[in-house]
Amino acid sequence: MPIEFAQRISRIPVYPVASGYDLGADVAMLASNESCFGPLPEVVQAAQDALAGANRYPDPSYSALRLALSERYDVPAQRIALGSGSCDVLLAAGEALLEPGAELVYAWPAFSVYPHLAAASGARAVGVPLDSDERHDLEAIAAEVTVATRLVLICNPNNPTSTAVGLDEVGSLLERVPPHVCVILDEAYCEFSLRLGDPFASLELLRGHPNVVILRTFSKVYGLAALRVGYALCGSVAVREALDQVRQPFYLNAAAQAAAVEALRHQDEVERRVAKTIAERGALEDSVRELDLWVAESDANFIWVRLPEDDAAPSEAEVVAGLAERGVLVRAGESLGREGALRVTVGTAAENERFVEALGGILGRA
Ligand SMILES: Cc1ncc(COP(=O)(O)O)c(C=O)c1O
Repeated sequence: MPIEFAQRISRIPVYPVASGYDLGADVAMLASNESCFGPLPEVVQAAQDALAGANRYPDPSYSALRLALSERYDVPAQRIALGSGSCDVLLAAGEALLEPGAELVYAWPAFSVYPHLAAASGARAVGVPLDSDERHDLEAIAAEVTVATRLVLICNPNNPTSTAVGLDEVGSLLERVPPHVCVILDEAYCEFSLRLGDPFASLELLRGHPNVVILRTFSKVYGLAALRVGYALCGSVAVREALDQVRQPFYLNAAAQAAAVEALRHQDEVERRVAKTIAERGALEDSVRELDLWVAESDANFIWVRLPEDDAAPSEAEVVAGLAERGVLVRAGESLGREGALRVTVGTAAENERFVEALGGILGRA
């Protein structure tokens, strides 16, 4: 007799994790939108120092990290939620807000974890197609909000398509969403966005909108993906309390807390890395366009490339496999909700060149 699992287990989609973490050094890891820069020595030191106290549980109120974020963003510490990665905060939001009969609205394709929230809770997911430039269609999203809507997710810049919508447009959407609906602005990549300006610009949207949550991560711009630290700047204490209520205590380990606090102290270096990434992104986009391919206008640390559609062209699966054979790992659009495209992380100059050369060879456009 097979084990009987909860019904939701058959509904929850399996997250499309990237492969290749076991392949060793000579691989261009361009599949997971990580930073190609390693953590700063001071950050590694802070994590190591924290390990000396590993016999104790970590600070359950995360006070040092909350304080550091509160000072940086001028948001009261009681309105800052943390998580083991921003994924953890997202899942907590699903648990705190959703249930059968409720609705969740998001653009699609967007971040692969969003469908999980509805599947796990039994709520109804409403996926709103992106526009022809692969951007959020905020008008269409606003039109899908009903009395049953509990949560709207705006992925800005959007993963996987790399595009961003302006804050004025997001502000207009917020005016149309009723105040009982929580709106999460998932800004995992905002630091790389020229359209959004600096990482402080969207904080203005918290003012006067207690239903808004700005979700950020240390996994991308701070290069701490392996330590799993995410945070949410909430428009109200009530949201933060609800997010914390559904979670286990001690969800953020001591080394991760210490590393994140230290990482926030090195903004000059963070800005230098952002500038390098943006410069490399531009060069990468240009090289891909020279292969006569369409690339979305990226505001993130990755690009979104449409593959040729003619019958003679290799399929998406063949392109991804061909790249992997040449030591370049990227993500197939099919696994992210849109077949016929590639999501490619901006790597080092050498990694990006390796990708372009390999792609050109596979498509016969070198
Ligand atoms: C849009 C978006 N949001 C959230 C996350 C989650 O990041 P993490 O859990 O590493 O903080 C990701 C990760 O790729 C993402 O792309």
